[in-house]
Amino acid sequence: MSTVVLPGSFDPFTLGHLDLTRRAAALGHQVIIAVSHNPSKQGMLDLETRKAAISASVEDEGLTATVEVRTLPKGLLVDFCREIGAGAVVRGLRSQLDLAYEEPMARMNRHLARIDTIFLLTDSASSHISSSLVREVHGLGGDVSDMLPGPSLDALRRASPVS
Ligand code: PNS
Repeated sequence: MSTVVLPGSFDPFTLGHLDLTRRAAALGHQVIIAVSHNPSKQGMLDLETRKAAISASVEDEGLTATVEVRTLPKGLLVDFCREIGAGAVVRGLRSQLDLAYEEPMARMNRHLARIDTIFLLTDSASSHISSSLVREVHGLGGDVSDMLPGPSLDALRRASPVS
């Protein structure tokens, strides 16, 4: 079984992220979900809250045997991959805009350490879901309950009890 890293901010972890996790594991990989600090991003949930929500979501899906949640240390993603013996990164693509954002990073990671990126096309049921839009909709009082796993929704409501 090969190890892959699914990195991201996951602020919050959405049903789209959960679908990617499930599919990466179904391809036979040991999946390490690596949650980044990303202090430059205007976020909502702190790192430990995000990790706890992801772990609970993974557990609810019965994926604990093949999926682990870790903090992505500051520094290069490829260094983390090498440190844990991961051979590839997994990222989801919702659209060509995502590809435009992802392509330079994937090429750089390959240049730096011969780490490939496996792109999974997002399921059409979740291709409109992004963490930033979920935060915005929730912040404006909209219902995001069908876009998040239960633990993520609970964490969002605790952090910002708007809806
Ligand atoms: O969910 P996000 O915020 O789009 O995830 C971005 C992430 C964490 C994948 C990206 O910022 C990243 O890879 N950070 C690690 C730092 C790094 O290696 N930078 C060089 C990438 S080419």
